[in-house]
Amino acid sequence: MTAEIIDGKAIAATIREEIRQEVAAMQAAHGRVPGLATVLVGARKDSETYVRMKKKACAEVGIASFGHELPADISQDELLAVVEGLNADPAVHGILVQLPLPDHIDDEAVLAAISLEKDVDGFHPLNIGRLSMKRRDPLFVPCTPKGCIELLDRSGIEISGRNAVVLGRSNIVGLPVAMLLLHRNATLTVCHSRTADLPAMVRQADILIAAVGRAEMVKGDWIKPGAAVIDVGVNAIDDANDPRGYRLVGDVAFDEAREVAGAITPVPGGVGPMTIAMLLRNTTDAAVRAFG
Ligand code: GUN
Repeated sequence: MTAEIIDGKAIAATIREEIRQEVAAMQAAHGRVPGLATVLVGARKDSETYVRMKKKACAEVGIASFGHELPADISQDELLAVVEGLNADPAVHGILVQLPLPDHIDDEAVLAAISLEKDVDGFHPLNIGRLSMKRRDPLFVPCTPKGCIELLDRSGIEISGRNAVVLGRSNIVGLPVAMLLLHRNATLTVCHSRTADLPAMVRQADILIAAVGRAEMVKGDWIKPGAAVIDVGVNAIDDANDPRGYRLVGDVAFDEAREVAGAITPVPGGVGPMTIAMLLRNTTDAAVRAFG
C-alpha cells in the first residue's frame, strides 16, 4: 500500500483564500481589517524566519501586521510594557510573542500578560486551562495543534473512537493536540522519552501525531497499516547533495512510512503551512469578535 499524501501546502492555500475573502468582506462592511502584532526578542535566525513568514502571510490575505523587533537584552518590565501597549491598541486584534524568549525573561509572565481576547497563539494560561477541561472552550486554540486537526478533518479522516497516539508532550504541540484529540473522542495515548517499548505503542495508532523533534525516529515498521500519520517534526540533517548542505526531514522516516500508512504528511509541506494558516484564522476570529 502507498499512502495518500496529505498536502498541507494545498490545504493551507485553500484556507488562506477563505480568509482573504472574509477579510475583504470585513473591509467592505466595517472599513477595518484584522491586525496582528508580532513581537520578536533578539535575533535567533529561526525565529526571525518564522516571524517574517507570518508577516508575509498576513499581507497576502489583507491582514495588517505590526512588527516589534526588540533587543535581546530588553528587561522583563520593558517587554511587559510593550505587551500592555499592544493590549490597549484597537488596531491590534492578535498578539504573537515569538518563542523561545531569552533566558532572563519569564515567558509565563509574558504570555499571561497578553489580553485573552488577543491571545491568537492560544498560550495564555487561561486559554490552555480551558482547553484542558471538558466543554470549556478556549477563546483560541494553539496554531500547530489546531492545524493538525484541520488536516485530519479536511482529509476526511475520522477521529472519534479511534486510537490516537501522540509522540511528545511539549506545551506548544504534544499536550494541546492530545487535548484536542480527546475532545474529539479519540482514545488517547501520549508517549515520551520514558515510554517503554515505543514501537509497540506507536503500532496501536490509527492516528499518529509525531512531535518529538528527532529526525526520522519513527520507522516504517512502527506504523500500523492504513494509519494516518501527521508529522510535526522539522529537523535539519546534513545532505551533501543539497546546495544548502542540509535538508529538512520530519520525525517519521517518510519513505518507509508511506509504504505502510494510509495517509501521511510530508516535511516540508505538511503541518508547517497549516500553523501559519491557523494563525491567520485565529487573528481573523479575534477581529470578528472585536468588530461585533
Ligand atoms: N515557537 C515555536 N512555535 C511557536 C508558535 O506556534 N508560536 C510562537 N509564538 N512561538 C513559537
